[in-house]
Amino acid sequence: MNVLFTSAEVDPFAKIGGLADVVGSLPKALRQQGIDARVLMPDYGFIDKERWGVRHVLNFEVHRRTGVTHCELFMTEFDSVPIYFLRAHPYFGFEPVVYQGWEMDVPRFTLFSQAALAVCDALFAQQGWMPDVIHANDWHTGLVPFLVNRAKYEQAHWSGVGTVFTIHNLAYQGEYVGGWMWEYGIPGRDDHPELVRLGKTDNLMAVGIGYANVVTTVSPRYAIEIQYPYQGYGLDQLMRTRVMSLVGILNGIDAERWNPDTDPQLVSHFNADNFMTARLPNKRQLQQDAGLPIRDDVPLIGLVSRLVAQKGMDLAVGPLRQILSESDVQFVALGAGEYSIENALFQISEDFRDKARVYLGYSAAQAQRIYGGSDLFLMPSRYEPCGTSQMFAMRYGSLPLVRETGGLADTVSNYDNAAADTGTGFVFEWETPDAVLGTLRWALDTYRHSPYAWRRMQERAMRTDFSWTKSAGEYITLYRQISKKG
Ligand code: ADP
Ligand code: GLC
Repeated sequence: MNVLFTSAEVDPFAKIGGLADVVGSLPKALRQQGIDARVLMPDYGFIDKERWGVRHVLNFEVHRRTGVTHCELFMTEFDSVPIYFLRAHPYFGFEPVVYQGWEMDVPRFTLFSQAALAVCDALFAQQGWMPDVIHANDWHTGLVPFLVNRAKYEQAHWSGVGTVFTIHNLAYQGEYVGGWMWEYGIPGRDDHPELVRLGKTDNLMAVGIGYANVVTTVSPRYAIEIQYPYQGYGLDQLMRTRVMSLVGILNGIDAERWNPDTDPQLVSHFNADNFMTARLPNKRQLQQDAGLPIRDDVPLIGLVSRLVAQKGMDLAVGPLRQILSESDVQFVALGAGEYSIENALFQISEDFRDKARVYLGYSAAQAQRIYGGSDLFLMPSRYEPCGTSQMFAMRYGSLPLVRETGGLADTVSNYDNAAADTGTGFVFEWETPDAVLGTLRWALDTYRHSPYAWRRMQERAMRTDFSWTKSAGEYITLYRQISKKG
């Protein structure tokens, strides 16, 4: 079974958020279960060819109404997974960032999706490799299922190819693309009655949802939430037309790459057996780097996040200020995103200099040190399709404080102080600052007054199996159902 992933982000080559974590680790897990999984991503200008051993494979052309686009395909192997990179000027090759705004990204990812099929044609012609399934991800590659659907009826080697479309975040949709589609000679989305009826033919997320053989979400809970208007972002009706082909499969994490027992960013390695002593030096180092008092007894709240409305920082800033002023606690945050949220967090570290430190920016190394050194991990998302951060935090022994939504609800089990030995974190439901404040106080109380319960929770969190093994198997079942190799 051959599977080609198409994605805008793949860790470690280009990462903004969890999409990169997933496409950077699921293919490896699939290969371990006998699937020939490969990945196609853009060749962004910042990807260091020498560092990753990237080599040229072949050249090909994409024919569009406006003319011919010359493309180059490169590849390397990472963790035994073949990764292909698409270079095509002026779309991909020189840019210093992944995303460049709607007016650039729509034409860029339209070309990327068209090229994905041309890559398959070229690999098939030159090497005899053809995917049985193309696995597209998020709006950037939403056009792929539509294009495959057409190719199936036009070319014999496409006839049995199935498509999976995974929704990582329904809020980002790639809308109003009609003009670009006309420009590039991509007609025919009006052969889909539901897209026409709902006025979504010019929405790339909707096109992916409408045309894929199977649609998946990255957690079971999110598959339900998006069938309702509140989290459906205008596509809940379309989701309901696809319930028979909609499956929620929980994300895993690469437990080898994310391992506190080997992580080179940690000053002291630890595991679920020795964390009570071996984890402490990481907390001290985090405090020292942050310029905070080095103390073992004070609870340290960590945060690593894209700073956008989704992540619920507006719910958390007030409660954080309250907690920092009323109690003996420390706070270390790392994040980048919208200016107003960055500023609100930064102001906390200005106002509580001896208790809080906020790093604005992106740093994989610093993120790992926060997972490995903090006691509590704050993730009060308004919505969360899955979330990888809370799983990294748990694996690294930092207990997540999360809202009961999406993948957070599916991965964090709530502490119950009436029942012995339960829970891997602290969960609240209502989207209000009061809920965050109350839950913070409850967690800090537990840290101070029930150290035994806390340690048991840490141990449970660290021992939870977040590996891809089970979920990769669920994807394979789907691949079998929709491809000729069933
Ligand atoms: P999302 O994809 O919505 O951002 P996830 O929790 O699925 O949420 O994934 C976030 C990923 O991005 C995690 O791997 C997290 O460690 C990483 N991350 C987020 N912000 C930063 C940052 N400022 N620096 C380094 N890593 C970050
Ligand atoms: C998106 C979601 C996040 C999810 C990630 C990977 O970025 O916001 O919740 O974990 O995709 O699927």
